[in-house]
Order: sequence, then structure tokens, then C-alpha cells
Amino acid sequence: MDVLDLARWQFGITTVYHFLMVPLTIGLSLLVAGMQTAWVRTGDRKYLAMTKFWGKLLLINFAMGVVTGIVQEFQFGMTWSAYSRFVGDVFGAPLAMEGLVAFFVESTFLGLWIFGWDRLPRKAHLACVWAFSLASIASAYFILAANSWMQHPVGVELVDGRPRLNSIWAVLTNNTVLAAFPHTIFGAFAVAAAFLVGIAAWQLWRGNADEPVWRSSVKLGTWVGVVAFTGLAITGDLQGKLMFEQQPMKMAAAEALCHTESPASFSVFAVGDVSRPDCEDVKSITVPALLSFLAHNDFSTEVKGIDDLVPMYQEKYGTNYPVDERLGELSGKPIDYVPVLPVTYWGFRLMIGFGAISAGVGLLVLWLTRGGRTPRGRWFRWLALGSIATPFLGNSFGWIFTEMGRQPFVVVPNPTGVDGVWMFTARAVSNSTPGEVLTSLVALTLVYGVLAGVEVFLIRRYVRGGVAGVLPGSDPGGPGSGDGPGSGGEPGTGDRAGSGDRAGSGDGVGSGDGAGPGAKAGSGDEADDVLSFAY
Ligand code: HEM
Repeated sequence: MDVLDLARWQFGITTVYHFLMVPLTIGLSLLVAGMQTAWVRTGDRKYLAMTKFWGKLLLINFAMGVVTGIVQEFQFGMTWSAYSRFVGDVFGAPLAMEGLVAFFVESTFLGLWIFGWDRLPRKAHLACVWAFSLASIASAYFILAANSWMQHPVGVELVDGRPRLNSIWAVLTNNTVLAAFPHTIFGAFAVAAAFLVGIAAWQLWRGNADEPVWRSSVKLGTWVGVVAFTGLAITGDLQGKLMFEQQPMKMAAAEALCHTESPASFSVFAVGDVSRPDCEDVKSITVPALLSFLAHNDFSTEVKGIDDLVPMYQEKYGTNYPVDERLGELSGKPIDYVPVLPVTYWGFRLMIGFGAISAGVGLLVLWLTRGGRTPRGRWFRWLALGSIATPFLGNSFGWIFTEMGRQPFVVVPNPTGVDGVWMFTARAVSNSTPGEVLTSLVALTLVYGVLAGVEVFLIRRYVRGGVAGVLPGSDPGGPGSGDGPGSGGEPGTGDRAGSGDRAGSGDGVGSGDGAGPGAKAGSGDEADDVLSFAY
């Protein structure tokens, strides 16, 4: 493999890994803020237990996200130095804003939230978690503004062969980021929602104490998941329309559309090798005229196929790479303007498919656990735990599609923008040897593997600990420490949810269903006792 391939593998591995943490932090932080708000408003100890339990998992995940995010920044300078020089003048502003928001606002308020449980007035403490979660969303906006600029460069002029920023406002209001931002945030909610549903359903299955906590978490997760998937479909449709105008080759690659069609049908599923240049052997299940609608809101728009687009790209951006030793094996070779079609075609479908499965399983779990029921078969455990992975996979395929679909460009030319503001990926890499890149690729993959192990270990440990592990006065009993399904309590009897206005009254959470004798937790802790517990 040459430097370019190794650098791309390194970028893909580190980025997909980093983006497992990011959406969970964004989605979960807002849900935890909502849970804490419910507790402050109602005083119901169930909401405090939810805040503490999910908040603990949020913190573990946040820490891993920061560690892997910092590596991202280093690798740009290390492996993609030509790219960093090219985009430096544009990215300086949004990335500085991201740094300020992430390091000052996000970290400060997170620290205040962690250590402020027994020190800050309740409402001030609540404001901290809101400030933290809103800052994490703001920092995502700035990163996406930078990424969207690479998909659709705006707000620049070309000076000495490099783009120079002349309007940060244009970069921050790029229509590409205005569509990508809500899509990514809905994706983050889909991840957090499935996390809640999967873990809470598993706790119910094993007969853990604190049943009201898990039932409310399943409900919250399911409805957030359904709204998130609806939001993803609406914002994804907007992105498709922009893609049609801004990156026609990516549009054709999403469909593996070889020949121009008018009206164009949407391929739901294909049998055969979609990478074949002549496409003749591919059998596809299609919905007539749907692609025209996705592209342009009507059922007759012509969508250009790869065969017609390639000559257009060749005319505008050249047929061969320049002869330049920095281009390695590609020096002087013909430019391949067609992305890797099986990746783009299936990536697009897997993004949508995994998102749909995630929302669907949420609804199924909600129905299966209705009215205090809990299925006891092992299949339910696998359904619950397996569904956690689905939106993570959906997000990963979304990014893989987005980034692979713009190849061979790293900065895609804007069809109506300034001439010359684009960059081939082959030009973007550092002047390193394959051995150097291979070393960092292996090292980072190993380090990330260890970090993944640490994250899974910690999350597993705190999940198994249940509410009792994070909130004193809860019942650790029930078969929660074991793995099998508990015998279950009497669902819905008694004051399980804790209706009193004293926070931490102990009713409900840890009422000891399953094997435990029950009701042990109702020791009537005062709110101050609860608040005195910091993470
Ligand atoms: C339901 C229908 C959906 C449609 C029509 C859709 C459409 C799109 C399109 C067109 C893009 C590429 C934008 C570009 O490269 O310019 C994209 C990217 C992406 N999608 Fe989806 N999507 C859908 C569902 C999902 C789901 C369910 C998830 C996650 C669970 C998801 C996560 C992502 C991510 C992370 C990206 C990359 C970031 C971005 O450009 O926003 N999408 N989607």
C-alpha cells in the first residue's frame, strides 16, 4: 500500500472510532439534562436516579471522546500536512471557536456539574448540565461547518493558489452545514435513544431493582428514537437535494447510477456487483421516479448517470493527475472520478436501514414491556443489547458514505463557487514514507483498541451496578448482580415511582423486585443526603 492508502485507512479508523463517542455524548447529555429538569421540577426520586445512572455513563463516554478527539487534531498535521496548509486559513476560525466552546464552556460546566451536586443551589446546578450539553451541540456545529466547507466551499477567494477566508459568516451559514447539522444531531439522539432502550430493557430482563427507572427509560428512549428517525428522514431529504446540486457524482454514486435517467427511479436493493462499469448484470428493486423526487422535489427531474458525469468532470478538472513526485503512484495517471460504488451504494442503504431498525426495535421493546410486562426469554436480552449497536452503525455508514462519496476530492469543487478552490485527496497527504504512516496507523489502532476495551469495561461495570452503584439509599438487591432473568416483582403495585416532594424519599427506586425482599430502599433519605453524593 502507498502513503495515500495508508493515510486514508488511518483517517477512516480513527474517525469512525471517534464518532462512536461523539453522538452518544451529544444525545445523552441533553437527555440527562431533561431528566435532571424533571427531578428538580417534581422532586421525584426516580428522575434523580435516572440522572445519576445515565449521567455516570455519559461521563465515561465523554472522557473517551475527548481522548480520541485530541488524536484527530494531531493526525491532520502529521499525515495530512498538505491539506492542513491548504485549508488552514479557512479552518482557523471555526476550529478556534470549537476549541473555545469545547474547552472553556463545555469542560467548565461539566466540572461544575460533577462537583457541584452538594455545593451549588439546585437550579444553578441544573443550569450547569444544560450549559454543558448546549455547548457540546455548539461545538459540533463548528466542526460540521468546517466539514461542510470541504463538501461545498464558500466564503473564500483564491490567493496564491490557496483559499483565503473573506466571510466567516458565509462559512457558518453554508447551506450544506444548515442541513448536515440537524441531520447529525438527530443521529446523535438516535444513538442515545437506543442506548437507553437497550440497557433499560436488559435491566428489566435481568430483574434488576429500580423497575420504574428502567420502564421510564424505555419509554423516553423509544419516543426520542422515533422522533429522531423522523427528523433524520426529513433532514436527509434536504441533504439529498443539496447533494444533487453540489455533488452530482456523489448522487449518482449513492445509486450506482451508470446511465442518466429521466424520471429516475430509486434503487431499494440490488443483487449483483454494483461496481460493474456497464451495470447490465445488476438486478435492482426500484421505486419509480423516487430518485427524481429526492433530487428535486418532483417526479420527472433528470438525474445524471456516471457515464455522462465523468466527461463533464474531466473537462473541468482534467483527465490526468499532474506529473508530481508527491502524488506517488498516481503521478501522471488518469484521474478516476468515480467513488467506490459498492461502498457508496450500500453505505447509503445501511445508514437508512440501521436507523430504521433502531427506531423499530425501540417501538417493539416498548410494546413488549407494556403494562408492567417483561419477556423472560434469552432472545429479549439479545434483542435489547443488539439494538444498541444499530444507530452507531447507521451513523458510521452515514459518514463513510459522505466522505467516500466525495472522492477523488478532499475539498470538493463548488459548481457555482470560486474557480480553483478544490483539492484532490492524493495531493493532501504529507510527504511521509509508507513505513512512517504504517507505524502511526498500527500504533493508533492498538491504542484505540485498548481504549475501546477500557470504555466497554467501565460502561459494563457501571451498567451492572445499576442505580445502587451511583445513588446511595437504593436497593442493590434483586438478582441484579447475576446475569439471568429475575423472577420479577409485582409490576405496578405500590408507590413505586415515589410521588413525594422530598427528593430521595426512597420510594420506588430499589423497591426490591426479583429475588430481593423488597422495600429495603425506602429509608426516607433526605434530599441533602442524596445531594451530598458527588460522582
Ligand atoms: C432516513 C433517511 C435518511 C436519508 C434520506 C439520509 C440522507 C443522507 C445524505 C444525503 C447524506 C449525505 C450528505 C452529503 O454527503 O452531502 C447523509 C449523511 C449522513 N447521515 Fe443520513 N440519511 C438518512 C438516515 C440516516 C440515519 C438513520 C442516520 C444515523 C442513524 C444517518 C446518519 C448520517 C450521518 C452521520 C451522515 C454524515 C454527516 C452528514 O453529512 O450529515 N442518516 N444522510
